[in-house]
Amino acid sequence: MPVRVRRFAPRDTDAVVELWRECFPTDPARNAPAELIARKCARDPDLFWVACEVSDGVDAVVGAAMAGYDGVRGWLYHVAVTPERRREGIATALVGRAVAELEVLGCPKVNLQVRSTNSEVLGFYRSLGWSVDEVESLGRTLMVQES
Ligand SMILES: CC(C)(COP(=O)(O)OP(=O)(O)OC[C@H]1O[C@@H](n2cnc3c(N)ncnc32)[C@H](O)[C@@H]1OP(=O)(O)O)[C@@H](O)C(=O)NCCC(=O)NCCS
Repeated sequence: MPVRVRRFAPRDTDAVVELWRECFPTDPARNAPAELIARKCARDPDLFWVACEVSDGVDAVVGAAMAGYDGVRGWLYHVAVTPERRREGIATALVGRAVAELEVLGCPKVNLQVRSTNSEVLGFYRSLGWSVDEVESLGRTLMVQES
């Protein structure tokens, strides 16, 4: 079945929530899919894509990816493809779209983080020409103020 990558639309929310719950079952609470989508859409909705299979006019989400660009670096987040449709090039198409749009924005380098327990995903990124940077990744959790 043909798959196309397009920008995320609000009607995709439930499908992407379900996809991310299935693909990232151990994600911390701060990555709760519905809240993540709401924050992304409120701040920077364009760098968010879904891969959809179109059959009989029905658009079924089979993959998704988010990116960000702050003027210094691009970041790629939450690239996921439904388990039944892996190894068909769907994530390659999603990452290709993200990289192409970041390039158009003038982004000189794109980064992403892979949990050290998720080593097989490194095979995917290496196949696309990504390499592991010799850096330590640091992070700090912030208190989010309710508006
Ligand atoms: C990683 C993931 C997005 C790849 O999606 P996909 O659509 O299957 O990837 P593609 O079909 O585009 O793969 C392209 C190439 O990447 C490599 N590749 C993909 N998955 C791989 C894996 N699990 N192990 C090793 N290499 C892999 C292969 O070379 C593949 O080409 P081939 O199928 O011709 O051998 C998918 O496995 C997934 O959703 N995983 C769970 C979520 C996750 O951990 N995401 C990463 C967060 S950083």
